[in-house]
Amino acid sequence: MKVAFVSSEVFPFSKTGGLADVSGSLPIALNKLGVEIIIITPFYDTIHRRKFRFNEEITTQITVTINGRKEKAGVVSSLLPGTDVKVFFIKNDYYFNRNNIYTQDNDEDERFIFFSLAALEFLKSAFEPDIIHVNDWQTSLIPYYLKNNFSASFPNTGSLLTIHNIGYQGIFPPQTLDKAGVNPSFFYPKGPAEFYGNFNFLKMGIVFADKLNTVSPTYAKEILTSEFGSGLEGVLKERKKDLSGILNGVDYVEWNPISDLFIVQNYDVNSIDKKILNKEYLFDLFELKFNPDIPLIGMVSRLVYQKGIDLLIDAIPHLMEDDLTLVILGNGQEEYENALLSLAERYPNKLKVVGHYNNVLAHQIEAAADAFLMPSRYEPCGLNQIYSLKYGAVPIVRKTGGLADTIIDASEKNKNKNPNGFCFSKYSSQALVRAVNRALKTFQVKTAWNQLMINGMLMDFSWKNSAKSYLNLYNQIANEKRKS
Ligand code: ADP
Ligand code: GLC
Repeated sequence: MKVAFVSSEVFPFSKTGGLADVSGSLPIALNKLGVEIIIITPFYDTIHRRKFRFNEEITTQITVTINGRKEKAGVVSSLLPGTDVKVFFIKNDYYFNRNNIYTQDNDEDERFIFFSLAALEFLKSAFEPDIIHVNDWQTSLIPYYLKNNFSASFPNTGSLLTIHNIGYQGIFPPQTLDKAGVNPSFFYPKGPAEFYGNFNFLKMGIVFADKLNTVSPTYAKEILTSEFGSGLEGVLKERKKDLSGILNGVDYVEWNPISDLFIVQNYDVNSIDKKILNKEYLFDLFELKFNPDIPLIGMVSRLVYQKGIDLLIDAIPHLMEDDLTLVILGNGQEEYENALLSLAERYPNKLKVVGHYNNVLAHQIEAAADAFLMPSRYEPCGLNQIYSLKYGAVPIVRKTGGLADTIIDASEKNKNKNPNGFCFSKYSSQALVRAVNRALKTFQVKTAWNQLMINGMLMDFSWKNSAKSYLNLYNQIANEKRKS
């Protein structure tokens, strides 16, 4: 099985969120299952040029026609660190030297049309895959191109679209159709390219990919409803038989308290007592008075609509009445960032907010925290709660999407199901505060709390099983392709 995995972010090279973590770890697990897999991603200027080893410009230049212009791309290669998995970077300084992975520039559509076309041009000369596996809106035109402009070059190649987040669809004015070179016959009310008068990248992927999946079983069901489908529930329902949900795995080399290089004290389920040293360190770092008996709640999140930040902001004044410390690491929408920073000024001894991206601190918070908060409005999978389980930071989550699939509430009725956290259902700050209060109460009973930590730390969300489900899907696509 030969697979080209195409993604707009790949850890450790580029990252804004969980898509990068998945792109940097699922291919390794698939490779272990015998899949011949390569990764294709843009060569952003933010990628650290000296930290990794790159082979410059390994192929002759690729030319892509875009918006009536000819644009050139180079290809640079590397390996996922510590593995044999090859990563090919599409290099074009005009599109990818923007100081950010994603931008608000008015050619954001063009940047990813260019990337998708260049990836296909590169594959034409380099690697004939059985499957092109694309991810999210940025690469969602590839399934269309495969069936149209590139069908002669790839007669035997099928496609899989993984939807990591339906809240981001790549919606642009109708002119994007021309830039993308998409046949205008596909742009008509409710047609594959049209979405309320605009062009929609993700919809194109949903219509043209051979199979579709999302990143948890619950989210796969949720996106068929108007509450979660963000307007694409209708077109998804038409493809229901090709849509599945595969829970994300995580990379326990990167996220494991026993070997984590970013934390001051390593520990695991057999040495839980040592975790406290990480808590002490974080209190020192933030110049807070340390008291081991006061629970530390951590949060690491993009500060966006999806993540329930409005609930959190409403809840903080109530939470601050309790004996707890809250540390939030997050960046994103400015209004959320500002609101949280001003709350932190109001409660300097109990609330710390760091408003930027910091991978090392993300690890240190997981290691230090007693509990970890994720009050998401919706959550396709969520990786942070899974990391938290391994670090013994008991998750407090809203029961939605992948959070519902991974966190078992510590209620009486679940007592024989190895509960590992606290869940609340209603999207309200009161429900959030109630869940935190339940956690605080349990925290006072050391044996009960330890059991929750142990239950979580013993769980295994490595890619082993989920990678098999992906291989299964690849085989199904390839078989159906052969028959057609
Ligand atoms: P999403 O992809 O929706 O952001 P996930 O839980 O799947 O949510 O993944 C988030 C990933 O991004 C985690 O690896 C998390 O540690 C990381 N992350 C989010 N915000 C920050 C931040 N401000 N600093 C460092 N890492 C962050
Ligand atoms: C998205 C989702 C998140 C998921 C990640 C990786 O960013 O918001 O829930 O874990 O993709 O699939």
